[in-house]
Amino acid sequence: MRQIWISKAGAPSVLEVREAPTPEPGPGEVRVAVRAAGINFADIMARMGIYPDAPPIPCVVGYEVSGVVEAIGEGVTGRTLGERVFAATRFGGYTSDLVVPAAQVVPIPEGVSFEAAAAIPVNYLTAWYMLIHLGNLQPGDRVLVHAAAGGVGQAALQICKWRGAEVIGTASAPKHARLREYGVAHCIDYRNQDFEEEVKRLTNGEGVDIVLDAVGGTSFKKSYRSLNDLGRLLMFGASSFATGKKRSILAAVKGVMAMPRFGAIGLMNDNKGVIGFNLGHLWGRIDLSVKYLQQIIELVADGTFTPRVDRSFPFDQAGDAHSYIQDRKNFGKIVLTP
Ligand SMILES: NC(=O)c1ccc[n+]([C@@H]2O[C@H](COP(=O)([O-])OP(=O)(O)OC[C@H]3O[C@@H](n4cnc5c(N)ncnc54)[C@H](OP(=O)(O)O)[C@@H]3O)[C@@H](O)[C@H]2O)c1
Repeated sequence: MRQIWISKAGAPSVLEVREAPTPEPGPGEVRVAVRAAGINFADIMARMGIYPDAPPIPCVVGYEVSGVVEAIGEGVTGRTLGERVFAATRFGGYTSDLVVPAAQVVPIPEGVSFEAAAAIPVNYLTAWYMLIHLGNLQPGDRVLVHAAAGGVGQAALQICKWRGAEVIGTASAPKHARLREYGVAHCIDYRNQDFEEEVKRLTNGEGVDIVLDAVGGTSFKKSYRSLNDLGRLLMFGASSFATGKKRSILAAVKGVMAMPRFGAIGLMNDNKGVIGFNLGHLWGRIDLSVKYLQQIIELVADGTFTPRVDRSFPFDQAGDAHSYIQDRKNFGKIVLTP
């Protein structure tokens, strides 16, 4: 089989395609012949050496794949050879053949492509957990979505539209026209505009009901201040730590120092909620994640949600794929194809 390895921490050029023996599935596992593997920002941070959850480098990252079941381990029921499936995986997704617990595999309905299916697990589960499970999203809510043109941002936008909520989205300016086309009510260029001021202006000083913030650092403080009474801030990442394509310890330290320290009394007096979320630490709830994935894929199959796959890159261009995201060119998901 072929895998993409992070050979050492560094720029996108450290990604290398290597051959490895194809593994056999053990009891309770299946092997999937991968057709598409999703890239997530966490993979980029892992490549840079600033993602504490990643396996020690050299390693193979990748949280999600789609493909065809090509081998079935002992004791697995309900799966058939040749079946089209997608799955979340605890790393190792940048591979042509993946052995994964059968409990993590979900069938792909007819009409949904491998690329679209590979774009679902991380982005849609993250947005779903934050908005539906934790955020109590209600019709008419106003939601501030940072990096609205990214993978999670697009999933969040579609969930908000489905639930009748209004989205204010931050993104690089060239992405605004498409964001409006997809239903974002107001776009903010967060690199050149003060988003807190803009949210105040757009909401007549009231603020929003929910903020999804994976920028981190000072952004969390400003997002908190952008909340209306009873508002909820969902914190789920720190993309601002990735200032260039190589690790900057200074940027990471500055980012950590700039994180707010929320106090119990302040939160009570403000009537605001602050919630952290990390899908990568939720493997103990895989049953719930699979249940949500089944609901999500049905909503994809009936056209309610449309995973936006911007581009697929072949394995030997994985470095270009990472650069494409870090150069902020992506609109939606980037996938790798073996
Ligand atoms: N906690 C969790 O469970 C979880 C799960 C999934 C994702 N996340 C986090 O959510 C964030 C978005 O992830 P994603 O996979 O949706 O992203 P993505 O699709 O890879 O999109 C990245 C986009 O983020 C924006 N961005 C913001 N800061 C950036 C930076 N420093 N360098 C490059 N791009 C930057 C850019 O859009 P603009 O040009 O519009 O700025 C870029 O196109 C990341 O921080 C990720 O770590 C967390």
